[in-house]
Amino acid sequence: MTVKLRACMALITVGWLLPAAAGCVAPNPPSDSSLTLTAAGEPGTKLLISGTVTDQSGRPVAGAGLHVYQTDASGRYTLERSMDEAHARLSGRIRTDDGGHFVLRTIRPGGYPKPLKLGDRERKIPAHIHIDITAAGHAERRLQVVFADDPLLSDPYWTDWVRRLHQSVLKVDPATGAANLVVILDPPGSD
Ligand SMILES: [Fe+2]
Repeated sequence: MTVKLRACMALITVGWLLPAAAGCVAPNPPSDSSLTLTAAGEPGTKLLISGTVTDQSGRPVAGAGLHVYQTDASGRYTLERSMDEAHARLSGRIRTDDGGHFVLRTIRPGGYPKPLKLGDRERKIPAHIHIDITAAGHAERRLQVVFADDPLLSDPYWTDWVRRLHQSVLKVDPATGAANLVVILDPPGSD
């Protein structure tokens, strides 16, 4: 009994619930299209993103898979290795609902602690949230969502980067911490 309870808690902790297979019942199972990326008590400014994934005609893309990962408020992916994107502590997955919608509750990420040599000089990198999107019948999209109120975006280097790579620039309501995001997927072979 104790072993089964531990197995259930492990499944619940990692966020991928298999209650039927494991015989577990989560106390508050999340829906696939809604993800809270941060635990209670995570430092930082709360952020609520309401998103929609569409095709180029504006039709919703249901069942799109989103892998979301970001730095914490101090700009670190992990406590031990600040730049270890592949093992980001704040990481999770979402699947869009029938209307192509998803909801992400998180905190605003911090910018990387150290500048990098980019272009003609060392530059700080705008704070961003990675969202890698896959959907049947569409090209994969690897998005870095940045923030409209980030002063770094006034650097022409970053303005050009946003334009060339079609990055999303999030406008956050300062009163509520809410923002809308529309992701448009290209047909296969477009990347
Ligand atoms: Fe990153």
